[in-house]
This record gives sequence, structure tokens and C-alpha cells, in this order.
Amino acid sequence: MALVNEHYLKLKAGYLFPEIARRVAAFAGRNPDARIIRMGIGDVTEPLPPAIVEGLAAAAREMGDRATFRGYGPEQGYEFLREAMARDDFQSRGADIAADEIFVSDGSKCDTGNILDIFAPDNKVAVLDPVYPVYVDTNVMVGRTGDADANGRYAGLIYLPATAENGFEPELPTERVDLVYLCYPNNPTGAVASRASLERWVAYAREHGAILLFDAAYEAFITDPSIPHSIYEIPGARDVAIEFRSFSKNAGFTGVRCAATVVPKSLLGRTANGDRIPLHGLWNRRHTTKFNGVSYIVQRGAAAAYSTEGRSQIAGLIRFYMANATLLREGLQSAGLEVHGGVNAPYIWIKTPGGLSSWSFFDRLLSDSHVVGTPGSGFGAAGEGYFRLSAFNSRANVEEAVERIRRILA
Ligand code: MLT
Repeated sequence: MALVNEHYLKLKAGYLFPEIARRVAAFAGRNPDARIIRMGIGDVTEPLPPAIVEGLAAAAREMGDRATFRGYGPEQGYEFLREAMARDDFQSRGADIAADEIFVSDGSKCDTGNILDIFAPDNKVAVLDPVYPVYVDTNVMVGRTGDADANGRYAGLIYLPATAENGFEPELPTERVDLVYLCYPNNPTGAVASRASLERWVAYAREHGAILLFDAAYEAFITDPSIPHSIYEIPGARDVAIEFRSFSKNAGFTGVRCAATVVPKSLLGRTANGDRIPLHGLWNRRHTTKFNGVSYIVQRGAAAAYSTEGRSQIAGLIRFYMANATLLREGLQSAGLEVHGGVNAPYIWIKTPGGLSSWSFFDRLLSDSHVVGTPGSGFGAAGEGYFRLSAFNSRANVEEAVERIRRILA
């Protein structure tokens, strides 16, 4: 009989979001008339912008015509998309990133897990706590950790608490670390990293030979012009950082699927005997071996995000979701809750009232107000006593949810 990868047996029973879905389905089964408002998973609700729909549709028509049909495309992505990203996402912000350093993919969730293929198992990994669970679980799966303790913290990982007390700005690691996951704007706390904070991380990585795995999936929600959108806006970051980009939350691609990973050519790792190896080549090898590229149609849709109409329609979407974030933040603050985030990010991070645990508040909100959020403890031990609400919803649902929550708190 085949042996299984026993590292999977160390994982907590279910991935956070399916576990929430399971509890909500059970509640809905018992209360078929309840009109449940789902603000748990950060999934977009608004339709695709018209410029993107037209980009997708035009590409679909090309695929239906013998003269313009295409089969396999370049695994790394079509030039038209990589060039647009290099120009508009990086070079226009003073970040020195070339098109051939960008690898188009079907999701940054997948890529933050897949990137582990090119790193040795004995690297020391640090994550912020609370943390997007994918960073932790994928390290468990490849065997980089021991078992979890009672708080769900895995032996072998270094957790850097980001709490209200430290302004969600974790201390730098005090022990040896080789890979550090950073996510800014942050999921789940909604915190952002100032330029000075990112400079501190880049200086740390350069000094200690560490690599930053920088998840910028929410960069489009930054409203403060002083906050960098890319780690590569920081001088020297090219030599120490990989960045993950996504079209999911800005262009509404959670169901379409398109993202990118940036691996600069100057980024080096080393072998056990000290040879320096460019990671770009390793990732290119991994990507071209295990992936056949994002569909032409989807890449044309993504490229439409960079047209004049696409940019202005996406800006409208972001304004819409951020107005939801403001309603949630201000509405819940005025109901007496301690609320963080929601200014440069689509997530609101709430201190649970009356010292309730995260899951107790989840259950209370679900049963008394029929609103679903995400328990902070699901993102890590330092998230206990917190609760996340997502601003991705219709305006009517957001207004209704705020009213319902205010009523149960009154
Ligand atoms: C979340 O709710 O944290 C996100 O939707 C998860 C994801 O983007 O994979």
C-alpha cells in the first residue's frame, strides 16, 4: 500500500474557510428562513468591469477563428501582460522590475505555496501572527515543521506577533531566519507597512541573507500616497524579495484566476556548499515544468485592467469596496467596538467585545445577527480575541450588517 505524506496529518482538521462554510451551512440548515450575510471569506461580489469583459470576449472571439486561434502560450505569460505589469505596477512607481522577471500564474494563493518547491527543507521560516493560513499550512505540508501546540503554533516556525500593542508592526526576528512572509496591506488585520517599516525589513534581509516573500495581493486598496505598493519601491529589495501579485481583489478575478509572481534576476540563494544560485532560473524551471500558463483569454482580460477605461473602472470598484470598509469601520466604532484596519485595506479587524473568544463571537454574531465573519484565532494564536469582517459585499448588505451588529451590541 502506498505511503502517505504524513506531514498532512499534522494539519488542523480543516482549512479555515471551509470550516466556516461548514458551520454556516449547519446553521442555515437549522434556520432555513435566516437571511445570512456572509462577510467571512474575502471574496469579491461586484461584476467584472466592462473593459475587462470586453477584453475577455474579444479574446474568446479570436480563439473561435482559425486565423487567430492559439494553443499553448508561453508558460511565463504573454509579453503583452508582462510588459503592462512591469510598466504600470512597478516602473511607474520607481521599482526596477523588467517584464521577464514577472511570471503570470493562476493565483497568488497557489504561488505562495508553490514557491516552497525551490527552497531547501531546512530553511528557517518566519510568519507574522495572525497570518494568512496558506503560508503556514504549505510549510507544514512540505515537512518544515513539527506538530502544532495547543494554540495551533507549529514547532519549527517562528511567529512574529503583530498586535494592537505593537501597532501591528512586529519586531524583527531575533534568531536565524531564512524566509520571511510579509503581507501588506495585511490580511487579516488590515494594517499597512510604512516605507520606513519596509526599509527596516529590506535592511534586515540584506544583513542576514534572508529572503522576503512579499504578498501584495491587496496593494490596490492603499489610499495613503505615502505607503509603498510594492516591496521593490524600496532600494535594494530586488536582491532580497519575491513579490506576489493578484488580479483577484482589484479586478474581481477570484473566479477568473490570474496573478503573477516576481522573481528578480538579481535574487540569489545558495547551495549547501556555498555556491550562489539565481532563484529566477529555478522558478522558471519549476513554473515551466509544472504549469502550462494562464489561458490567453484570461490574460487578455487581465491586460484590459491596464487600459485607460480598465484603470478607471477598477478605481471605481476599489472606491466602492473602500466605502463599504468605511461604513463598517465607522458604524462599528460608533457602536463601541475597537476597530482596526479598513483604511488602506478591505479588512476590518475588530476586538471582540467583553473578552469573548473569537469563535464565541463568531457563534454569537451568526446566531443573533445572522452575520458571518472570520474568527481571528483562525489566523493564529495572536488573533485570539479578534474578528475579521470583509468589505467585499453589496452596499445594502454592508449597511444591513452594521445595523444588525449594532442592535445586538446595544
Ligand atoms: C481571505 O478571505 O482571507 C481570502 O479570500 C483568502 C484568499 O484570498 O485566498
